[in-house]
Amino acid sequence: MKILLGVTGSIAAYKAVEITSRLKKAGNEVKVIMTANATKFVSKRTFAEISKNAVSVDMFSEPDYKAEHIELASWADLVLIAPATANIIAKIANGIADDTLSTTILATKAPVIICPAMNTNMLSNTATQTNLKTLTQRGIEIIEPATGILACQTVGKGRLPEPAEIVEKILNHQNKKPLPMKLLVTAGATIEPIDPVRYITNHSTGRMGYAIATQAIKRGAEVILISAKAELQPPEGVKFIKAETALEMHDKVLEHFNSVDAVIMTAAVSDYRVKNISTQKIKKSADTLTLELVKNPDILKELGKVKTKQKLIGFAAETENLLENAQRKLREKNLDFIVANNVTQAGAGFAADTNIATFISKTGQVQNLPKMSKLSLADEILNLLIER
Ligand code: CTP
Repeated sequence: MKILLGVTGSIAAYKAVEITSRLKKAGNEVKVIMTANATKFVSKRTFAEISKNAVSVDMFSEPDYKAEHIELASWADLVLIAPATANIIAKIANGIADDTLSTTILATKAPVIICPAMNTNMLSNTATQTNLKTLTQRGIEIIEPATGILACQTVGKGRLPEPAEIVEKILNHQNKKPLPMKLLVTAGATIEPIDPVRYITNHSTGRMGYAIATQAIKRGAEVILISAKAELQPPEGVKFIKAETALEMHDKVLEHFNSVDAVIMTAAVSDYRVKNISTQKIKKSADTLTLELVKNPDILKELGKVKTKQKLIGFAAETENLLENAQRKLREKNLDFIVANNVTQAGAGFAADTNIATFISKTGQVQNLPKMSKLSLADEILNLLIER
């Protein structure tokens, strides 16, 4: 893989030398762009010697100037910025291109991975956090900084993780094969109205489905994201369709089903809806109130009955008897895979950024995955569509 390493002006810049060396040893070609401030910590020559390639700093001062930022931007299979200062993060978030590195990042179509490293207060500052969130929403992967003693003699979050750890993540990234397919992903919590101001819903945040859509887009898939309630920005590049109730989601999913190669159904669909939705706000009167509920269609089960070429992946969020329940759903809904998770486990709940999942295939294979970020789990789920 051709890796473009961006090094910015942080004391941790010396660790980027080891990153370069490890990436080279793993068989990658590495080219380095340094910011002017980075050269105050480590010399350009060090990176040139280790990478065995010329190092760019100032695009206008190179002896053979030839729009190098464009050339490097299209040369790279992957761009890694380690260490990334608050400054470069802010520049990328705002599309600023005022040196070789920031210009190259703006011009590249390659996936970008960023390793922030800075003082704890700079990291926790709302400006930096907002910028990091913007980058994540655009599909840029952030490798979380570690906690420990920082160069400024304070203890806190902000250290660049160990080079071996960063390189392992980059090598894992190579497992993300392209996904040349059309995918339908559902996400979020459906809402079932009771009256004009009230509704029944559940704790799903939509994060898992949005993470799958984000990663699938990055891997070249065409993605339709049908979303119920979720307080998230749809990833750039998806065809976004809003569906609030289970019935709306049912209709939208069936409308698009024939045109897709696979469906990943992460939405937490309400099993029941209110039979008679009141047209007026229900007034408080008697001590008890009974709502009559009627069953919603099981969308996935319907897809299982009519599927032709499509692969179907369902989810089973359980609080007990995980495997039995998930296996039953896999069978009854005629799925290819089910992603089971026990939502009572720490790090696997609805609002968490992580998940602990078990994959079960229709052929009976069971694969337990360790706790991982929802973005990493999204990639593992997408791998099911191309590996088996
Ligand atoms: N699902 C669906 N339509 C429904 C209910 C669920 O398509 N009306 C899908 C979900 O998106 C999920 C899978 O079916 O991918 C399993 O959902 P879950 O709520 O865990 O299971 P249910 O079949 O509803 O069974 P139960 O609520 O009894 O656990």
